[in-house]
Amino acid sequence: MSHFPFATTDYPVFLAPMEDVTDASFRRICKDFGADVLISEFVSSDALVREVDKSLKKMAFSESERPFGIQIFGHDEQSLRGAAEIAAARQPDFIDINWGCPVKKVVGKGAGAAMLRDIPKLVRLTEGIVKAVPLPVTVKTRLGWDELHKPIVDLAEMLQDVGVRMLTVHGRTRSQMYSGQADWTLIGEIKRNPRITIPIVGNGDVDGGERALEVRNLYGVDGVMVGRAAIGNPFVFKEIKNFFEGKERPEFSFADRVSTCLRQLQTAVEIKGERTGVLEMRRHYAGYFKGIPHFKETRVKLMTALTLAECQSILLNSLEHFAVH
Ligand SMILES: Cc1cc2nc3c(=O)[nH]c(=O)nc-3n(C[C@H](O)[C@H](O)[C@H](O)COP(=O)(O)O)c2cc1C
Repeated sequence: MSHFPFATTDYPVFLAPMEDVTDASFRRICKDFGADVLISEFVSSDALVREVDKSLKKMAFSESERPFGIQIFGHDEQSLRGAAEIAAARQPDFIDINWGCPVKKVVGKGAGAAMLRDIPKLVRLTEGIVKAVPLPVTVKTRLGWDELHKPIVDLAEMLQDVGVRMLTVHGRTRSQMYSGQADWTLIGEIKRNPRITIPIVGNGDVDGGERALEVRNLYGVDGVMVGRAAIGNPFVFKEIKNFFEGKERPEFSFADRVSTCLRQLQTAVEIKGERTGVLEMRRHYAGYFKGIPHFKETRVKLMTALTLAECQSILLNSLEHFAVH
């Protein structure tokens, strides 16, 4: 049994870090529905050492969110170490390093998944961060750069050897971006390596209780991380938890969806201010109301509303129109 470097349940379910999605308002809602471990959106190490206000704000979390990790990304040794120290001063439960982000603006600077093309440097930079902070350091990455280069099984050992305390693997390469299906076989191979003692968290395409149970049984991972399936659907955590406990799939009514959505919206506005809170909430509506017949018109109204009051009244009015669901 591998031990997580923070207190959690036996088989924790993680909310994946997602830029502009997993802010504090959404994280808290996911925690309420059963997410065990939360991680910040990724924070640029260059921006942190320059004390950019938006990046400093991304590190904020409340005690109720623990165990909580702050995730940093970057390419420069000094700023990564400096950023890790700044993040550690906020006293999260762990510092997570992102070596997996595939997007051009990150990879183009040599950060995120770009480092998968220079494994010795990736390991060296990671070791520097481990030595710089008094907190557990964890890593999130992908299988490798492309179909021909998937070093993850060896890389897992190297990371463990320099002191990394948990590894999360998204079962895709950088070249795949988000296309195709996540391949969990190499994640299973890491777990079968008898030298690996750190917890391995599997990630990629887990969309509900059935798949979570399946990957748990098939690949022996120590925990599972859910990203896109949770957007506008924090209920997925309750479903996964129920499946793990051998219980039924939970039912959530239309009224449950509206009240949860309203709660997230209100918290987002409290934390980020009305404009940003209202705009960033737009990412979640499609998920909250997926599959509700004839909801399109209401969704369009939500997507164009600019004030909290407008959004609240659209949501509350929808309760009358869609009460049967
Ligand atoms: C909108 C969006 C933003 C993301 N931002 C981050 C991020 O900041 N840090 C990170 O490690 N991964 C990020 N990811 C990747 C997810 O954490 C996760 O690895 C990926 O979505 C695969 O998991 P899933 O199939 O459950 O979505 C992001 C993904 C999406 C869709």
